[in-house]
Parts: sequence; structure tokens; C-alpha cells
Amino acid sequence: SEAGEEKDLVIIGGGVAGYVAAIKAGQEGFKVACIEKRGTLGGTCLNVGCIPSKSLLNNSHLYHQILHDSKPRGIEVGDVKLNLGQLMKSKDTAVSSLTKGIEFLFKKNGVEYHKGAGTFVDEHTVKIALNDGGETTLKGKNILIATGSEATPFPGLEIDEKRVVSSTGALSLEKVPESLVVIGGGIIGLEMASVWSRLGAKVTVVEFMGQIGGPGMDTEIAKAAQKILKKQGIDFKLNTKVISGDTSGDNIKLEIDAAKGGKPESIEGEIVLVAIGRRPYTEGLGLENIGLEVDERGRVVIDSEYRTKHPHIRCVGDVTFGPMLAHKAEDEGLAVVEYLKKGYGHVNYGCIPGVMYTHPEVAWVGQTEQDLKAAGTAYKVGTFPFSANSRAKTNVDSEGLVKVIADAETDRLLGVHIVGPGAGEMIAEGTLALEYGASSEDIARTTHAHPTLSEALKEAAMATYNRAIHF
Ligand code: FAD
Ligand code: NAI
Repeated sequence: SEAGEEKDLVIIGGGVAGYVAAIKAGQEGFKVACIEKRGTLGGTCLNVGCIPSKSLLNNSHLYHQILHDSKPRGIEVGDVKLNLGQLMKSKDTAVSSLTKGIEFLFKKNGVEYHKGAGTFVDEHTVKIALNDGGETTLKGKNILIATGSEATPFPGLEIDEKRVVSSTGALSLEKVPESLVVIGGGIIGLEMASVWSRLGAKVTVVEFMGQIGGPGMDTEIAKAAQKILKKQGIDFKLNTKVISGDTSGDNIKLEIDAAKGGKPESIEGEIVLVAIGRRPYTEGLGLENIGLEVDERGRVVIDSEYRTKHPHIRCVGDVTFGPMLAHKAEDEGLAVVEYLKKGYGHVNYGCIPGVMYTHPEVAWVGQTEQDLKAAGTAYKVGTFPFSANSRAKTNVDSEGLVKVIADAETDRLLGVHIVGPGAGEMIAEGTLALEYGASSEDIARTTHAHPTLSEALKEAAMATYNRAIHF
């Protein structure tokens, strides 16, 4: 498409939701423009989220394994040294090659890319304050809001990204701290706790709720994961609320209060990571200029077809309802373009996998046991421990279990929950089975290659209606 003319679709935000919608729209022959103010495409996920965190997780795991888990495997290494600068460089290389890859895909698919901050002027017009200075305006028949989210701040403890950090600062610390206190035992908190604990920091996680993992993790799995992470050296304070923080000393001091009536105490850390959730980001977007409202949690209000109250303005990703996950944002971006092209689109919100990339990984899809209890659904459970899986044994990496939940009456699959090696890849099978409405017997009667970790899923499925063979 050419600059200046009215676009079929103007997208504000070049994160996963926005850039995927832009590429798809280009492929469908739309005149499409995408506005991104960060300077690079890919949003939170590629720049300061999914991708850099997985680089640090993978390399810190290798380092930790070489240090502590090579000798019994018959591998003797000399002096093992951490080069944090190089570890960070490897991360930065992964990020920059992926973000540049999207720029290439934009060109390939005819997406017009504007580097700058977009603001609604009226219902069809977006003004762009260009990063290089100056201003331009775009008109769109349709407009997509995909402005994402930001870290929720902790009142009274200002994030300077040096000593009090959000995930962004935690992905770029210049040295391994002596001690790290993590406020919030959700996914961000636990992934970052793993990275810095493996690299040598003393890590304590303070969590308000009675279980780790944030919303959505099955309680039995969360407990199993916590036990394993604790063995790795991470300390946990559950049912504990951080009340206030004091940054005046060498260490940062936090006042904490056991939520369930314990006595107040304090805890200190060289670095504090605030990981208490993320909130929708609409700053500077000018929603007020077009009379659009956000709900009490800051989310842009949409209907089931992603339409705001102005039907040609749609909204997807972290800035609206649903789990704040990259694959959810991506599929919504695709669905919107399908709506525009064909009049229908689809995301199955009952079937969105979640993965926590610690070691072992935790992965799940569908309903948890606590969900089903609350809903009064009759269900049955089959579990299988990795300690009885031949491949996990061979790999000397056999902590964790697979848990399959099926309807008590029909055997229809309701949920799959895994803590164990490779859980994040294995959950794809459970997701596909759930999407296709499989029974647990369907999984159990499907031949799985031997020896693989995925046999643990087969056996857990078997255990819902019969008995596992190897346990
Ligand atoms: P974003 O990725 O936040 O993109 C929105 C973009 O819009 C931003 O780049 C922003 O600069 C831009 N923008 C905002 N306002 C304007 C404006 N007015 N004009 C122009 N541009 C604007 N999810 C997973 O599924 N797996 C993971 O492993 C994972 N790891 C994560 C790790 C961390 C540390 C964090 C913080 C998040 C992680 N997430 C993960 C979540 C994932 O990053 C988000 O769900 C995803 O990025 C949401 O995509 P989005 O496009 O909705 O928003
Ligand atoms: P989260 O919502 O997952 O977890 C925040 C945790 O902080 C909760 O357990 C909450 O109870 C706790 N908390 C809140 N206030 C507290 C307080 N005052 N004191 C102690 N604990 C407190 O949010 P998180 O981890 O910040 O992640 C944000 C989003 O990013 C999530 O929605 C997640 O889906 C996404 N993400 C996804 C990843 C993945 O898919 N692997 C990785 C990282 C982030």
C-alpha cells in the first residue's frame, strides 16, 4: 500500500497481536499500516518478554547443569566460569535477529511500518508522533488497537530498573546479585527467580496467595513444582504480603506480613523484582478523543468479535480481556483479519495452553481440579510420575508428573497438567486432543513412540479409566 491513502486497516502496536494481524492482512491483500513506537517490532514478547527470558533460562540452565550435574554423567569439565556479558549478548542477538525478521516479513507482505506513537484524533484518524521527529496522520477504514500491557507498579516502591526492577530490569542485570527478593510468585517471578538463582544469587519469593504459579495452575501441580524449585535453592514465603519497601540502605528492606495472621517481619535483598502482574497499556492512545472506555482493570471493552463500541475499531491482545499470553494475542490478531475478510473468526478460550519455562517446565491446558470442583463437575484423574518413564530415567531428569483430568461419565478430556522435563512441548498433544474433543481413552489408545517423555501422557490418560502399565 502507499503512504497517504486511506488504509483498509491501521494497527496501533507492533507486538505479537499487532504484527501478526499486519502480516496476515498483507497476505489477504489489504492496504495495511502498523504503528509502533518502541523502535523495533515484536512488542513486549520479543523485546523484553518471552524471547529474552527464554534465552536466559536456557543458558543459565546449561551453566547450572555443567556446574552441578555433569560429573555423574561421565563428563568432567575444568574451570567453569560465568561470563554474564556474553550470556546477555547471546540473548540480545536472539532478540535482534527475531525483531529484524519481522521487519523483513512486513516488507515481504506489503505492510507499511510507521515508527512512532499513535493517538486517535477521531474515529477514523490516527496521528503519529514520529520517533525521528515530526508528525504524520493515517486514515483507516478499520483500526486495530493492540497496545499491550506494562508491569503493574508496587505502591511506594518505585521501579528504577537498577535496584528495584520489573521483568525488564531483571533481564539485564549487570552483575549477579548476592540476594534477590521477588515480590509475586507468578510466572514472571518464578522464571526470573530460576535464572538468577542458577547464576548464584540467593533468591526468596514472597507470594500473597497460598500457592505459586499465579492464576490458572492446578494446585497439586503447583505444589509439586514448588517442592522441586525449593530443592534447587529458591526460598518461598507463601500467604505473605509485602506491605512497604525502604530503599535508603545498601540493601532494600521490605516489610512483610503473613496474610493469615502471622507477625510482621522484614526481609532484605540487594535487588527487588516487582512481579505482581501486568496491566493494560493505553497511555497516550487518546481513547478519550473517540469516547472509548476501559473497565475497572484498565482493559479496553470489546464484544465477542473484538469490536469496541465503534464497530470498525477492534482490539486484541494484552490490552483487552483474557490471559496475557503471546499465543493468545497472536491468534486473536489472526481472528480479527478473518472477521474483516470473511465475517467470522475463532479463538477457543477453553483451550489455550500455559507454560512456565523453569526446569522442569510446568505446562497446562483446560480446566484444573479446583476449577472443576468449583463448577461441581464430576471428574476422574489419572497421574503418571516421570520417575516411571524410561526416557526421563535415561536422561537422569525424572522429577515431576503428568496429570490428566477427564469427565467422570463421558471420559471426555477436561484438562492436562504437567510438571516435568519438556512439559512445554508435550502440552501441544494435550491441547490438540482437547481441541478435537478427545476422550482420555483416545490418547491412551494412540501409539506413542518409545522411549519418549510423551509416553507419560499416554499412561496418565490410561490411568483415568484403567491402570497405567509402568506404575
Ligand atoms: P505487546 O507485546 O505489549 O505489544 C504492544 C506494543 O504496542 C508495544 O511494543 C508498544 O510499544 C506498542 N504501543 C503501545 N502504545 C502504542 C501507541 N500509542 N503507538 C504505537 N505503539 C504503541 N507470553 C507467552 O505466551 N510466553 C512467554 O514465554 C512469555 N514470557 C514473558 C516474559 C516476560 C518477562 C513478560 C513481561 C511477558 C511474557 N509473556 C509471555 C507475555 C507476552 O509478552 C504478552 O502476552 C504479549 O507480548 C502480548 O502481545 P500484545 O501484542 O498484546 O502486546
Ligand atoms: P501473575 O499474575 O502471573 O502473578 C503475580 C503474582 O503476584 C500472583 O501470584 C499474585 O498473587 C502475587 N502478588 C500480587 N500482589 C502481591 C503482593 N503485594 N505481595 C506478594 N505477592 C503478590 O503475573 P506476573 O508473573 O507478573 O506475569 C504477568 C503476565 O505475564 C502473566 O499474565 C503471564 O501470563 C505473562 N507471562 C507469561 C509467561 C509465560 O507464558 N511463560 C512468562 C512471563 C509472563
